[in-house]
Amino acid sequence: MPIFAPTVTLNNGHKMPVLGLGTWLSREGEGIEAIKAAIDAGYRHIDTAYLYRNEKEVGQAIREKIAEGVIKREDIFVTTKLWNNFFEPCKVAEAFKRSFENLDIGYIDLYLMHSPMSFKFDGWELGHVDATTKPEYADVDIVDTWRAMEELLNTGKVRSIGVSNFNSEQIARILQQCEMKPVTNQVECNPGINQRKLIEFCRKLDIVVTAYSPLGRPNYYEMDPVKVPKPALDDPRVKAIAEKYNKTPGQVILRYLVEIGTVPVPKSSNPVRLRQNIDIFDFQLTKEEIETMDGLNTGKRTVPFHVWISHKNYPFHIEF
Ligand code: A2P
Repeated sequence: MPIFAPTVTLNNGHKMPVLGLGTWLSREGEGIEAIKAAIDAGYRHIDTAYLYRNEKEVGQAIREKIAEGVIKREDIFVTTKLWNNFFEPCKVAEAFKRSFENLDIGYIDLYLMHSPMSFKFDGWELGHVDATTKPEYADVDIVDTWRAMEELLNTGKVRSIGVSNFNSEQIARILQQCEMKPVTNQVECNPGINQRKLIEFCRKLDIVVTAYSPLGRPNYYEMDPVKVPKPALDDPRVKAIAEKYNKTPGQVILRYLVEIGTVPVPKSSNPVRLRQNIDIFDFQLTKEEIETMDGLNTGKRTVPFHVWISHKNYPFHIEF
């Protein structure tokens, strides 16, 4: 039986399921199968990005599930993101059109600025981009990009707009100078960096925090245990809570993130873990357990974007 996540109402009245599927590194065949399996498992919220180069696969999986009669378009919430190279206001509509056509699902639920750091436009085909590549920076004001994002709402092709990797000062600037409030700020959030202060800041503004890398990217830790902080999945305190509820450590972490008010988007291509990750709505952590989970916060990021630290808009110089 599928399990459905409850929804949160965004500051513009649209509803977003409080748990979604992350798709970073899900590509081609693997991506389509994982997304279809996720929809069968009950996921109704999928998070992609132009950068991930899998929008076509995400769109195809959704269209196939609509054709099978499993879902209707309006049942599923789809997010994609404007990559940093396309922040010049004159590029935003074309960048959106490309994501819109890649997905080909009639409309996009949520379009995010992928970060506050603008890079020089270098063509529409993204070359290899990861945490080690340092592109040429551009000097586009986030306010100007955001105003171009606002104009997209008039096309009727996107229902909500938001930001990602913004700090509190960058959000405050958008609010002071622009018309529309972002509905969400999507940031790294897991027990190691629980973002309590940013969540509180956003909560007061009616902005939902979406939690990426909610499990702390165990795959990155395995590749580089020196630089990447150890994910909480193996922590004995998390394991003890998991045993009490007959859940897995991953489920306890995701439940914690929902209870502190975020919308986690865990990535998995494994059908068993996919199902486990959404099976978190039949138990509740006690106040003491939340405190125990809070105790795992070190403030260390698994995705610090160190290579872009010299960018004028690097968001992580301040505490939150
Ligand atoms: P897999 O796709 O094989 O399940 P994050 O969402 O924090 O970026 O973490 C994603 C990574 O965590 C992926 O490598 C994924 O591998 C793995 N993963 C996903 N769900 C779980 C889980 N419940 N427990 C442990 N690892 C998980």
